[in-house]
Parts: sequence; C-alpha cells; structure tokens
Amino acid sequence: MQKTPNHALSAIRCPIALEDVDLFSPGAQEHWYEAYEILHRDAPVLRLPGEGPTPGTDGFVLTKYADIARVVRDPVRFPPTLSLAVDQLRQSGLPPEQLQQTNAMIASMMTLRPTIDLWRAHRQELTDPWVGPGADRHTAMITRCVDDLIDAWIDRGEVEFVSEFARPLPQRVMANVLGFPSEDIPRLAEWGTAQVKAFVYGRGHRNLLTKEQIAEQFELLDGFKEYVNEHVQAKRRQPEDDMISFLTQVTYGALGRKLTDLEINGVVYAMIIGGLETTQYALEEQAQLLCERPGIFAAVKNDRGKLRHFVEEGMRLRAPTQGLSTRVTSQDEVFQGVSVPAGSLLHLRWAAANIDADEFECPHELQLDRKAVSRHLTFSAGPRVCPGAGISRLEQTIAWTRLFDRLNAIEYAPGNTFMHQPGIMLGTLELKLRFEKSR
Ligand code: HEM
Repeated sequence: MQKTPNHALSAIRCPIALEDVDLFSPGAQEHWYEAYEILHRDAPVLRLPGEGPTPGTDGFVLTKYADIARVVRDPVRFPPTLSLAVDQLRQSGLPPEQLQQTNAMIASMMTLRPTIDLWRAHRQELTDPWVGPGADRHTAMITRCVDDLIDAWIDRGEVEFVSEFARPLPQRVMANVLGFPSEDIPRLAEWGTAQVKAFVYGRGHRNLLTKEQIAEQFELLDGFKEYVNEHVQAKRRQPEDDMISFLTQVTYGALGRKLTDLEINGVVYAMIIGGLETTQYALEEQAQLLCERPGIFAAVKNDRGKLRHFVEEGMRLRAPTQGLSTRVTSQDEVFQGVSVPAGSLLHLRWAAANIDADEFECPHELQLDRKAVSRHLTFSAGPRVCPGAGISRLEQTIAWTRLFDRLNAIEYAPGNTFMHQPGIMLGTLELKLRFEKSR
C-alpha cells in the first residue's frame, strides 16, 4: 500500500519560494524537507530578525553541513547556550541545591561539568560505560525487550508500530539501564513527556514555554525528583548492577570525589530527557523508509552486512532531532557569505545538513553502500556530541535485526494520517503497519 496524502496534511501549505519558508510555525514539520531544498538554494544561512539571545540580537538558521560541523567542533568560539546559562548560575553564588526553577540536570552541570574538560570527563567516566561505547553490556537485555514486544503482535499480521514497539522499547531499555522497576515505566514515561515539553510545545526556534507551562512542568517533575532520590538512597545502601548504583559508588576522577544525590539526579534526568523519544522516532521513520522504498527490506534481510548502513542512512535521511538553537557566536563570523555578528544565536539544523548535496552524493537516496555512512550530524559532533549515541545505535540495530529475522515484509496498513507530532522532533504520532511473518 502506497502512502497517500490525507486532507489535514495537504491543507498545510507546502513552501514554494523562500518567503513561504517558516520552519517553526504549527504544521511546518509536514514540509520541512521541501523547505530545506529552498534554504539550501536561496538562503543557506537564514536570518531570524530579533530572535537572538538578548534584545536587539538576531537568530540564524544554519543548514550547510560544513558550517554546522565547524560550529560544533569549536565550543570556545561558539559556546553552547546551556554552558552560558550554567556560568550565569555559578556567578549567582547560590549552591545548586538552593536554586529555584532550575532542573536537576542543569544544577548538576554546575558542579560536574562547567568546563569543556569536565564535560569530556563526565562523558568518559560517568555515561560512556552505560550508554556510550560501553552500551554493549546491554545486548542481551535489549534483545529480550525487543522480542517481548514483537511476541505481543507477531501473530496478528498488523501492528500500530509507535505505541506497540517504537515508544515502549526505549522506555523499557532506559528503565533497565538505570535500574528502575518495570512497573514504574508508565510513570517514567509521563515524566519523560514532561521533560521534553519545550521541544514539543515550545514556541519558535528557541522552544519557549510560557510561565504557566513552565510552572506546570516543574509541578509534574517534582515527583520525579523525589522518586529518583528514593532509588538513589536505596541503591547507596544496597548497590545492584545498574547505572544508578554505579553512580552512587563511583569516584569521579576529574573531581576526586563521589557524587551527591542532586548530581546523580541530574545525570538520571539527562538520560530520561535524551533517551526516550529520540530513539522512538528513529525506529518509526526507519519503518516508513522501508514501506516507501521498495527493495530495501529484502536487501537488508538477505544481507545483514547492510544493516548498519540501513540504520545510519535512516538517521541521516530522517534525523529525529531536526534542529536546536544551542550555540552563540562569541565573535563576528561569516557563513556562506552572510555576516553574523557576535552575540547571535545559531539554530543548527542537523536534518538539513544531512541532505546537503555538497556533502552527500545523491543526498535523498538511501544507499546501502554509502561511504563513511555514519558521518551524518544526527547526533551532532565534537566535544558535545550526544552521549547516548552508543545505546541508541544498539537499540536500533537489535530492533531491526530481530524485525528482519521475524518478518518477511512490511507495508503501510490502511488508516494512517502521517501527521507529525508538533515541535522540533520528526516523528508521526502513530504508524499502522501490515506484515508477513517469517516461517
Ligand atoms: C536517535 C537518537 C538520538 C538523537 C537523534 C540524539 C540527538 C542529540 C543531539 C543532536 C544532541 C545535541 C548535541 C549538541 O548540542 O552538540 C544530543 C544531546 C544529548 N543527548 Fe542525544 N540523541 C539521541 C539519543 C540519546 C539517548 C539514547 C540518550 C541517553 C541515553 C541521549 C542523551 C543526550 C544528552 C544527555 C544530551 C545533552 C548533552 C549532554 O548532557 O551531554 N541522547 N542528542
């Protein structure tokens, strides 16, 4: 069954010329990729007047691979907004425990990773062993989670792939990694949704929430902090084989001391905010690519050496995190001939960089033999690269290994709207698939 446009989707206007392009208005996600073509051709650096970090400054959307790769590799010249916010909080002189309306993740950054060197140490010492290069330790657990989910619908011939596979998989995996009981997954999922609220409901390229929305978010997340604290206390007394237990016991070499409860809470917050929807949408969009591009399913099923290419090309063509406004210029810059003054806010559009024809030959093709296939910017790059790339790649690899093992073919089932969720992530709210089971 082919993808057919539905009413609601076609009612959202597809940009034809530069003046039609607005990446951040409601419904814009339905035509992001058409907009990237126009931006690459007519405005690879798009100025957003008055949309900078402070009054009188501007924002700039970067869409070219070379520009974004340069920015993320040089955090001194292009400091991350989060680091500037942490610097300001440190200057306030208040201890992290006393800060109001500051989430645990930011509070923990004040002490655990206020500098680039500490950022690196934090990743290497605290997260890499669990969700980075050390993620392999979870292979058996992830395979179990994948098979349990498939078992529930394999005999039905059809599945709502988002709610029955792509969403619950990272939820189960991250609960296991952190050491939370599986009966708490629904609560963790709710907290995860509250954490990413700005990326879904936030306005404009800065993902701004109203005061009321922020207050509501803090109320929802109050319970999360207490919940994590209870687990931290229990695991301090009786450590098990999980990431929180590890964090309660480890001596952080870079600071020569153990972590406080608040710091552990902050690391856990970061794992939940980063680790759920991102992988969910990677899986969901990969399933769509298989339905849309004939021959790919059979090619990968019959030659598993191509699976890595499929996963990476899927993330390149449909980056779950399409773009973030997370860097500032510390000096006057020129990108693609456009002057960008010091103090401007840069919106890094990873998804557009990934289909930049100056970087990728035939950028819209899913090539199972593309050279240097993982050089896309879906996880960013440089010292601030996503710390969870290892576990996300592993989840996607195991998910597709078992799906290719257990299914013969997939196609769209009737009834899909193909409408995307609002905000900055690329993903449909549901995806109905039909499939043939392997004998
Ligand atoms: C396909 C899945 C994922 C995508 C597309 C993705 C994408 C990104 C991107 C683009 C950034 C920003 C980097 C920068 O500013 O240069 C980021 C940061 C981050 N990601 Fe991911 N991510 C994914 C999965 C994960 C997972 C599974 C986790 C946790 C287990 C995670 C945790 C984080 C955290 C904590 C940060 C903030 C940086 C830090 O605190 O060190 N992400 N991610």
